[in-house]
Amino acid sequence: MVNYKDLGLVNTREMFKRAVAGGYAIPAFNFNTMEQMQAIVQAAVETKSPVIMQVSKGARNYANATILRYMAEGAVAYAKELGCAHPEIVLHLDHGDSFELCKDCIDMGFSSVMYDGSSLPYEENIKISRQVVEYAHQHDVTVECELGVLAGVEDEVASEVSHYTKPEEVIDFATRTGCDSLAISIGTSHGAYKFKPEQCTRDPKTGKLVPPPLAFDVLHEIEAKLPGFPIVLHGSSSVPQEEVDTINKFGGNLPDAIGIPEDQLREASKSAVCKINIDSDSRLAMTAAIRQYLAEHPDHFDPRQYLKPARENMKKMYIHKIVNVLGSDGKLAQQ
Ligand code: G3H
Ligand code: 13P
Ligand code: ZN
Repeated sequence: MVNYKDLGLVNTREMFKRAVAGGYAIPAFNFNTMEQMQAIVQAAVETKSPVIMQVSKGARNYANATILRYMAEGAVAYAKELGCAHPEIVLHLDHGDSFELCKDCIDMGFSSVMYDGSSLPYEENIKISRQVVEYAHQHDVTVECELGVLAGVEDEVASEVSHYTKPEEVIDFATRTGCDSLAISIGTSHGAYKFKPEQCTRDPKTGKLVPPPLAFDVLHEIEAKLPGFPIVLHGSSSVPQEEVDTINKFGGNLPDAIGIPEDQLREASKSAVCKINIDSDSRLAMTAAIRQYLAEHPDHFDPRQYLKPARENMKKMYIHKIVNVLGSDGKLAQQ
C-alpha cells in the first residue's frame, strides 16, 4: 500500500474548491508516454497551474501501471527541479470500470479515481460508485463519478448515442454516492470525430464543419440543483484544424475530424465545471509534429529527433489550453 501523499501528489478537493469559486477549470491531461508527461509538467510549471495527470485502463495496458505510477512520482520531482517549489499534481484514474481497478490504483498511490458506471442501470451505478467512494475516502483519495452517457467510445464503455445527464437525478446521485465530483453529459464526446457531418452545419466560406452547441441549459440546471458542486467535462478536445491539416498534408487521413469549439469550453470553465479532460488534442499535436518531421527528414531515424518536436508541440498545446481556454494559470495555492 502506497499513499499518494508520500509521493508528493495531491487529491482534487482543494483545487476544485478554488476552481469553482474562481471561475476556471483544472486541466486533466491523459498520458501514456514519457514525452507527454514531460510536456504536461513543463506546461504546468511554466504557467504555475495545478494539473491532473490521468491514466486510462488503455494507458495501463500500454505503458504498465507501475511505470505510470513511478512517472507521476517522477513528475513531482521534475516539477520541483524545474523550479516549482509547491507543485499541485494529481494522479487520476480515468474511466475506472470496476471497484477492483479503482482499489488497485488507490493502493498503488493514485490520489484520485474515476469510477465510470454511466453505462449501468442507475441503481447499479450508485451501488458501485458508493463502494468506491467508501474505500477511497478511507485513504483521502477523491472520487469522480459519471451520470449520463457520452456518445463515442469511453474506453470499453461504448455508446452510439449521447444521453444528456438528467438534472432531476443529480442531487440523489451525488448524495447517495458521496462522490467528490460529477462527470456529466452535455454534448461532448470522446475522440477526434465528436459529431457526424449531418449533426453540423457547414461554414459557407471555408466549407468547414460547424458543430452544434453544448447543452448549456442542462449544465445550468445541474448547477442550480447542486450549487458549487464540482462538475467535470469529458471529451473536451477541440481537435485543432491546423493539426488535422498538418497530419493530412503529410500522409494522414483524418477527414471531417471535429471537436468542441474552445469558446464553449472557456464559457463552461467559468461555471461549476472545474475539470476538463483533454486527450485527443495531445495525440493530434504529437502525430502532426512527427508526421511533418519525418516527411521533411526522410533520412532521420533516431526517435529523439522526431519526439523532441512532438514534445514541444504538445507543450505548446497544453500551455494554450491552460492560459487561453481553462484559465488555470497562476492558480497554484503557493506560488
Ligand atoms: O476517455 C478516453 C481517453 O481518451 C483515454 O483513451 O482508452 O484510448 O487511453 P484510451
Ligand atoms: P477527448 O477525446 O476529447 O480528448 O476526451 C478525453 C477524455 O475525456 C478522457 O477521459
Ligand atoms: Zn473521458
